[in-house]
Amino acid sequence: MNRVVVGAQWGDEGKAKITDLLAQDADLIIRYQGGCNAGHTVVAHNKTFKFHLIPSGILYKDKTCFIGAGTVVLPEYFEEEIKGLIEEGIDVSGLKINPLASITMPWHTEVDGYSESTAGKGKIGTTKKGIGPTYTDKMARIGLKIGDLYNEESLSEKLDIILPLKNKQLKEVYGLKTYTKDDVMSLCKKYAEIFKPYVCFDWQKVLEDAKRNNKTVLFEGAQGVMLDIDYGTYPFVTSSNPIGGGAATGSGYGPKMIDEVIGVAKAYVTRVGEGPFVSELKDDTGIKIREIGHEYGVTTGRPRRCGWFDAVTMKYAVLVGGLTSVALTKIDVFDTFDEIKVCTAYKDTRDGKVYTNYPTDVFMHKYLEPIYESYKGWGEDITGIREYDKLPENCKKYLSRLEEILEVPISIVSVGPDREQTIFRK
Ligand code: IMP
Repeated sequence: MNRVVVGAQWGDEGKAKITDLLAQDADLIIRYQGGCNAGHTVVAHNKTFKFHLIPSGILYKDKTCFIGAGTVVLPEYFEEEIKGLIEEGIDVSGLKINPLASITMPWHTEVDGYSESTAGKGKIGTTKKGIGPTYTDKMARIGLKIGDLYNEESLSEKLDIILPLKNKQLKEVYGLKTYTKDDVMSLCKKYAEIFKPYVCFDWQKVLEDAKRNNKTVLFEGAQGVMLDIDYGTYPFVTSSNPIGGGAATGSGYGPKMIDEVIGVAKAYVTRVGEGPFVSELKDDTGIKIREIGHEYGVTTGRPRRCGWFDAVTMKYAVLVGGLTSVALTKIDVFDTFDEIKVCTAYKDTRDGKVYTNYPTDVFMHKYLEPIYESYKGWGEDITGIREYDKLPENCKKYLSRLEEILEVPISIVSVGPDREQTIFRK
């Protein structure tokens, strides 16, 4: 069974834990998009591990963990992440990088920082890890790929084309410092050393062998459907395709390799950065969710915006994300809540029009208010429960209603951060 794990909201849904659990059954784990903008926390061996780019499957021995062609890699960050894992005694010999993955160069992070600090109202609230500018250059066909680092002749030719253009942009558009070819060549030499133990030029063979031998593949997504560059709350999105379909473009396998797409969603919603969020709670309930759920960014430390579960965006995520089931996380955060709400529709405050399907014109979202269904809390600690039938009745009622609205099963319920705190349903 080849599975994709997709974030079904605005990222930070607890994908890392679900990926980590499913990685037990996988032979090959492929991260297919994004870069070190992601922050994935896994609790294992009584320790907390924080991942940004490296698939968390690396915590298991004998798995091949691939960083796919659809990703963007910031070399210094990658080096630091590897170092941290090695220091914790983790064997990283199973890690491979597709040479077609794009490199985030220093000018990408500089432009990201500049754009964010000068955008005023147009600020996206990015992680400032150079994600947007790296993907921009990739699409403009003036990016560098990891494979380029190992061919001095072609690297030199590419830089002759890229650098004059880049320097003109850096100087005239952004007023930022420029780069000499010597600077960049020596930087690239350093990068070549960083990636050398992991870059996999025979990646086709690894993928072919896995396919031929019916190995199990797990496709690991980052961010979430609502941050997808095509289907998310554009322009308040990331610059890649976290949706299930992104697994095919970013990994090197076709869509027929995928059997299941598991959308990970929290029992409530969080968002970091700017952008619309109809069910956001700007009151004490929002603060309560943030504090109990420890909703602070792994990559940036920013407090996350919190709100009730939004079934309107989630139904949309089921459709465009290609979800075949849902893993619902952090439901235990509601253990002390008397009332739990679910947003099932939006109402346009201008004309009273009600939307049950997600309106993709995000600029009108400021006029929308949530319509809620209300559920009674269960008032007990569920973090020790391991069987679905043993969950409190009110909790099961809430879960059944979500399944009814979303029209896909909730196959996994997570009741705490540890691997063991998980309920698998048949
Ligand atoms: P970028 O991906 O750094 O360009 O940021 C674009 C938007 O995506 C911002 O709103 C970020 O806060 C958001 N974002 C990027 N990565 C993550 C993530 O892993 N979790 C949650 N939000 C993210």
